[in-house]
Amino acid sequence: MSWLEVRSEFQGQPDLSPYIEIYRVHGIENTLETSTSLCGCYPVTQGAHERASELAGALRAAGATATSTRDLPEENWELAWRQFFKPRRVGDHMVVRPSWESFEPRTGDVEIVLDPGQAFGTGDHPTTRLCLELMETTGLDGSKLADIGCGSGILAIAACKLGASQVIAVDIESVAIEVARENASLNGVRFETYVAEGLSALPQGRRCFDVIVSNIISAILIRLAPDAADALVLGGTWIVSGIIEQNWPDVQASAQRAGFNLLERRSEDGWVAAAFKNGHA
Ligand SMILES: C[S@@+](CC[C@H](N)C(=O)[O-])C[C@H]1O[C@@H](n2cnc3c(N)ncnc32)[C@H](O)[C@@H]1O
Repeated sequence: MSWLEVRSEFQGQPDLSPYIEIYRVHGIENTLETSTSLCGCYPVTQGAHERASELAGALRAAGATATSTRDLPEENWELAWRQFFKPRRVGDHMVVRPSWESFEPRTGDVEIVLDPGQAFGTGDHPTTRLCLELMETTGLDGSKLADIGCGSGILAIAACKLGASQVIAVDIESVAIEVARENASLNGVRFETYVAEGLSALPQGRRCFDVIVSNIISAILIRLAPDAADALVLGGTWIVSGIIEQNWPDVQASAQRAGFNLLERRSEDGWVAAAFKNGHA
């Protein structure tokens, strides 16, 4: 299959998440990101050039300083993004390994094998890594955990491997849930999956989870805070990520309004992640 690449350029180091969302809304789930550019591809089928030009227009209207499109020869896109995804150590003991790469683990390593396909979550993005680090330090042994916005399933898989006894993975996108299930089986772990928005439509009741992890954009975290407080046991932990530095005060304020106390905050490359404790007890 050949591909049509749409590239967008930005000035300064803006929050790229709204632009990633524009790619997603226009049918491209996987984007390659640098601090000042994004690119994503359409398979070349009928209408691909029209879709690419609509996407480029939407990106420019939203503030991209330049856009360009080019044809990529057969399979180049897949090879192009695959070459950026290498085995990577995260936290003290975790290793995220693409399914097509080999790696010699050390004793005590927790290996997460992934083929992200069309879903977000390779462990290469700071938001994912920060989440994994906070999960490692939280201590998940025997916990019941919900991963809201599971993407490739990377966090749900990590939770199973870090000792959580029951894990559920939720995503608004059915393609992400399919990928997460495939990755669960690559890793020999099991978790329940739901195509749903946030927590409110889930069959699990109140005070049900010990830990919730959500690597989603700030606006959704802000909306999610009261539901997360309801779904967690008192003293339970909400790990949030996907927050650009300038949005952190709003996310923190909404968490505090919902009854959370800040336990830990970490940041990398302008991205913030945090762990909150539910309730004032
Ligand atoms: C940044 S990705 C995170 C993927 C993975 N958990 C990770 O940490 O790498 C965010 C995911 O959240 C999903 N998502 C966005 N809004 C959502 C919502 N309201 N409820 C559930 N999932 C949502 C997206 O489809 C996407 O897969």
